[in-house]
Amino acid sequence: MDRFHYHDGVLRCEGVDLEELAAEHGTPTYVYSRDTFRTHLADLTAAFSELHPLVCYAVKTCSNLHLLHELGAGGAGADVVSGGELHRALTAGIPAERIVFAGVGKSESELREAIAAGIGCVNVESESELELLGRVARSMGRTARAAIRVNPDVQSEGTPEKTTTGVRGSKFGIDLERVPRLFARASLLDHVRLTGVHVHLGSPIHSPEPYTVALTRVLDLVDKLRADGHEIELVNMGGGFAAEYETGAAPGWGVYADAITPVLKPFVAAGGKVVMEPGRSIAANAGVLLTRVRYLKDAGRHRVAIVDAGMNNLIRAALYDSFHFMWPVRPVDRLAPPTRSGWIDLPGLTGYDIAGPICESTDYLARERRLPTLAEGDVICIFGAGAYGMAMASQYNSSLRPAEVLVDGSTSRLIRRRDTYADLIEAELGLPDSKL
Ligand code: LLP
Repeated sequence: MDRFHYHDGVLRCEGVDLEELAAEHGTPTYVYSRDTFRTHLADLTAAFSELHPLVCYAVKTCSNLHLLHELGAGGAGADVVSGGELHRALTAGIPAERIVFAGVGKSESELREAIAAGIGCVNVESESELELLGRVARSMGRTARAAIRVNPDVQSEGTPEKTTTGVRGSKFGIDLERVPRLFARASLLDHVRLTGVHVHLGSPIHSPEPYTVALTRVLDLVDKLRADGHEIELVNMGGGFAAEYETGAAPGWGVYADAITPVLKPFVAAGGKVVMEPGRSIAANAGVLLTRVRYLKDAGRHRVAIVDAGMNNLIRAALYDSFHFMWPVRPVDRLAPPTRSGWIDLPGLTGYDIAGPICESTDYLARERRLPTLAEGDVICIFGAGAYGMAMASQYNSSLRPAEVLVDGSTSRLIRRRDTYADLIEAELGLPDSKL
């Protein structure tokens, strides 16, 4: 699953001691395993090999240039949702033709940048966006390659409402029955080549069924569009595969692939191209967040550990009530966790609220979590933090965003330095001269 393991009572990432890493770089710090990133990409691609998919890693998940570069070198393309993400993907060296661009609110300049770069596909999410894309491409004397993002109206069990996208009434995509009209309109636009259908159901999707239901609807639509005389070359099935940290029982890629491959195989056999946009399933377990216990105190009946990472560094618990497994890097009595997939009840554990330093009542990373006895100064590892961790970090409370370190075998390198106070005010313009 990943390369984070206890060895001689201390947690390591690949061959690197994480206590030493925390001492060297300070905390909070995100640590990524290069091997886990690359193995996940390779295993996912292999599971779907019969479909020869283009795997466009969802840049929003974890967007450090070094990680994008690693994934690009492993054959991945990129799914981007802003000009900023497009800039990152191109800077990391991902070839433009392997980049797809989704998002409900792309600006005119973002469309221009995408066309100028020559990206593989713009995933259009409204009729007005299609018109704008046509106008921008015409003004540039270029032809934009595009797909329509459809809303298949499929609800998947267990996906939080806050991260569900493919249901009726959502702002994402275009209702299935409205799509043929857009293809008809696009066929009149000289500067748009609309030849694909895109779908993204939400995240995480805990079983293959929502995909098979949605893709069956998408392929029916493809048949209809072809019958109307449109050329359809591409189906993009989006992202959403679950990661192990959610329940401890996330299906492996093989489980998704076994169900999805037969549905898409005829499309591929007839010359169609499949794109997928995984993020979480590649990145979540490839990264952890190291945080140090600053203070221990009692509050009512709670034992509270105040740590140096908060919702500013990892917002998922505060925003979605997400569960992240955590454990000290050097647990007392060498108490390594028997599993990482839920609440652990070993003798000798103590219940702690794990709270961050931010001035918000919701700033907890965990409540009443049973852990080996903690001491001030201990380093705790928050697992499954590679996806939507650093990418959603903020400077709230004028806090410094963490450092990021990439481990490769027995070596490690800093791939993003911690923010400085200068970073906090860098974009703010000079003060007027007047005295206070
Ligand atoms: N494609 C599109 C169009 C997306 O919007 C997303 C995620 C993905 C692919 C990648 O989905 P994944 O494979 O990572 O599940 N911040 C939330 C998740 C938001 C997902 C947004 N879109 C969280 O921390 O759980």
